[in-house]
Amino acid sequence: MAQFPCQFNYVEDAFHVEKLSITDLTKKVATPFYLYSYSEIKQNYQRLSQALNKVNAQVFYAVKANSNQAILKVLASLGSGADVVSEGELKRALQAGIPANKIVFSGVGKTASEISFALKSGILQFNVESEAELEHISELCVSLKLTAKIAIRINPDIEANTHAKISTGKAENKFGIEHTRTLDIYQYAANLPGIQVQGIDVHIGSQINDLEPFEASFKRISELVCQLRDKGHEIEIIDIGGGLGVSYDAETDEPFDINEYASLVEQHLTSLGCNIIVEPGRSLLASAGALITQVSYIKNTKDKQFLILDAGMNDFARPSLYDAYHQILPVSLNKKENAIYDIVGPVCETGDTFAKSRSIPSVQQGDYLVIKDTGAYGSTMSSNYNTRPFIQEIMVKDSQFSTIRELQTLEELISKDKLPDWL
Ligand code: LLP
Repeated sequence: MAQFPCQFNYVEDAFHVEKLSITDLTKKVATPFYLYSYSEIKQNYQRLSQALNKVNAQVFYAVKANSNQAILKVLASLGSGADVVSEGELKRALQAGIPANKIVFSGVGKTASEISFALKSGILQFNVESEAELEHISELCVSLKLTAKIAIRINPDIEANTHAKISTGKAENKFGIEHTRTLDIYQYAANLPGIQVQGIDVHIGSQINDLEPFEASFKRISELVCQLRDKGHEIEIIDIGGGLGVSYDAETDEPFDINEYASLVEQHLTSLGCNIIVEPGRSLLASAGALITQVSYIKNTKDKQFLILDAGMNDFARPSLYDAYHQILPVSLNKKENAIYDIVGPVCETGDTFAKSRSIPSVQQGDYLVIKDTGAYGSTMSSNYNTRPFIQEIMVKDSQFSTIRELQTLEELISKDKLPDWL
């Protein structure tokens, strides 16, 4: 969302986050590391929540985007609810102070232990994705003598015009229940013991920069709410999912203004008199994080100049998984002419590439780079591939910085392996 002042900027020739110079930081902290701006998270939250609250919609942050305790605590203190997809995320949200009655539980494969824990915690709502899951929740409610408040996630069969791997609202996707079967499934749910139907849910995909798919899904949901009410079902909560896109590439991404999205909510949903939940992840966190990395080597071949970084696809997977574009900039602009590089990591795969034929201000071995907009789906998707430890994470407020995740030690990492007795 480039139209708003960003906390990651050059001050003269030195890249800063808030009031902290990244060059100064690299003297104290070993790269690679993730760096977050407290003020950017707060600014993003306030912008979304102010626009949405006007149309009776509340922000329930999608924890999968970044589940660090410090980040959840910032959002909790601003009043955010949470959308979780595992027992782990639920525990993280509760531990950070997000109350259970502001947590919804989504996902197609909730296990018995996850459902039981969520029931005992008293969460606001299960977003149910299949008949089998509905039956499972009902059985667990009976045995625990508890009631589950549920919404059915509807698959509206709408094309979200986003990357195929993050499109969720087409009939062929594994998510939700076909919209044509809505009345039947609500009827079925209403008769199951331990189940209290209270809402309806939809989520059509992620990184959506077009308003039309959202409008189509809101229209569909509004029609369904009316039909369900006609049949006597009480629908008090409408969860419209997340998916609001951001600008990773100023030349190609044109995100809509949140006020335009809010107007569509108002036009199609507000008059139904429900509590409306929005589950943004990326639009709260993406611009609030950067990955700081050092150029380990520069390698020239006949056709190419490779920048080999100390960060790899295990630390940040979006470029290799989705061919995602992320801006990459030198921390210090000491040389102003541009050069063209393939910017790669150290992992032993050709897919470990952050950018191909990218023109950036020229750099030297040992220089530091910023990979921008990595606050969402960065650290949460990292892995230990190539036995590389999870990297350090830092949050900045003004000119202060604090570690919010320690670097994993190799001892910790290796000690999880166990030998069979016979070996
Ligand atoms: N609600 C549900 C049910 C979801 O599945 C998701 C994201 C969200 C909300 C939040 O969507 P957002 O506002 O962040 O677009 N790893 C991918 C993105 C996967 C999104 C999965 N679901 C990436 O890096 O692009």
